[in-house]
Amino acid sequence: MPNSDAPLPAAPGESDQGHELDERAELPEIVAPPPGPRSRSALERLERVECPAFGRRREARAQKSGAEMLPIVLAHGRGSNIHDVDGNRYVDLCAGFGALLLGHAAAPVRRAAEAQLSRLTLALGDVYSADVKVALLERLAALHPGPSPMALLGQSGSDAVTAAIKTAALATGRPGLVAFEGAYHGLGYAPLAACGLRESYRAPFAEQLNRRVTFAPYPRDEAGAARSIDAVEAALRGGDVGAVLLEPILGRGGCVVPPDGFVRAICDAAHRRGALVIADEIWTGLGRSGAVTRTGAIGAPADILCFGKGLGGGLPISACVAPEPIMRAWAREAEVVHTSTHSGSPLASSAALATLDALDAGQLTARSRDVGARFQATLRGSLAGAAGVVEVRGAGLMVGVELASPELGLRVMRGMLAEGYLVLTGGARGETLTLTPALTIPEPLLSAAAEALARVLAAPT
Ligand SMILES: Cc1ncc(COP(=O)(O)O)c(C=O)c1O
Repeated sequence: MPNSDAPLPAAPGESDQGHELDERAELPEIVAPPPGPRSRSALERLERVECPAFGRRREARAQKSGAEMLPIVLAHGRGSNIHDVDGNRYVDLCAGFGALLLGHAAAPVRRAAEAQLSRLTLALGDVYSADVKVALLERLAALHPGPSPMALLGQSGSDAVTAAIKTAALATGRPGLVAFEGAYHGLGYAPLAACGLRESYRAPFAEQLNRRVTFAPYPRDEAGAARSIDAVEAALRGGDVGAVLLEPILGRGGCVVPPDGFVRAICDAAHRRGALVIADEIWTGLGRSGAVTRTGAIGAPADILCFGKGLGGGLPISACVAPEPIMRAWAREAEVVHTSTHSGSPLASSAALATLDALDAGQLTARSRDVGARFQATLRGSLAGAAGVVEVRGAGLMVGVELASPELGLRVMRGMLAEGYLVLTGGARGETLTLTPALTIPEPLLSAAAEALARVLAAPT
């Protein structure tokens, strides 16, 4: 009889410790001012067949800022470089909205995913799991410091937050949620109800969303923290709040780092009232903020952790992780599950295992912390005295440069594109440049980016 305690065979990714710093990354080369002719012609085709929401947003942004907002179209990438269809080479300071922790086409992810593609691409999710999924669940559980942690997999960040909100509702029996102004957790209906970033995302669907969400302000300083904690405590006194959902650092909200002790105080307040804390580590986690989990690094005892973005090394996979006493709530009824066709897909699981291995092998969390701190210092130096710069902030390689207005943000985003650097705008009004390069990016590229930013800000706009 087979021994059920025998270790599972090593899955691709588990034994793949290979990791390369991105030494081949190059400075930008612009051969056709972006967007070049091929991008423009691909855009015409795109606009004929893509949902018009995105084109409409581009138009509005162009009108608002006076900047050209026509997009480039991307063709291939390697490490921290990405190329458009016109042959321009860029330095990517966005890295797939922060998801490409190892950069584009990272060797460990590529090797693991290629091997898994010819081995087993799709299993039977929650019915017959793949061996790699089992190995991944073990690795994810180990990321939670609580007792006997367990994980529930999904495909997107929105999905992981949905799973966490459901878990908290089952575990506490209370439907209410406290969320934060400026926060973003994805656009599925559960996280959309808790989206504090932009009212326009929620407004047309308000009648279909959970009405038991209370928003508290997200603090930037001590006085703000006291106000926010008061607001959270007032909501908790209402008695129907099952969970407080929070980003330990606002990501899309503009890389806002709350004052020391704030997240811990929220955990204490929630726990005093029997509510759970869901830490959305989808942006901050897995090294991006310079720690495996931000809540772990600051000693905040969050109950449910959400991971996504970087987990799959570019493939879609996410997870909600909680200790067994909380997760056990799912087992009270026989037919209450949260799953989907691609849940725990072997392909994405193999990429996630390879990513977690490479992060450990390359000590990339520590690198993110140290390189990120130096990058912030370089930016402050390069931008000292530059008109329109309000603040440089962040943690690890999630860095925000707050500018005087959203219009300036869009003009600078386009100015940086013309210089060969991909950057995005974030923040409640779009006034903050958010910089989330691969954790493997060579530092000279970051210094060059800081100089380019200074040039763009100095140019008449
Ligand atoms: C903190 C945070 N949570 C959740 C999400 C949603 O993730 P996804 O876009 O994969 O649904 C995001 C996306 O930016 C995020 O930044």
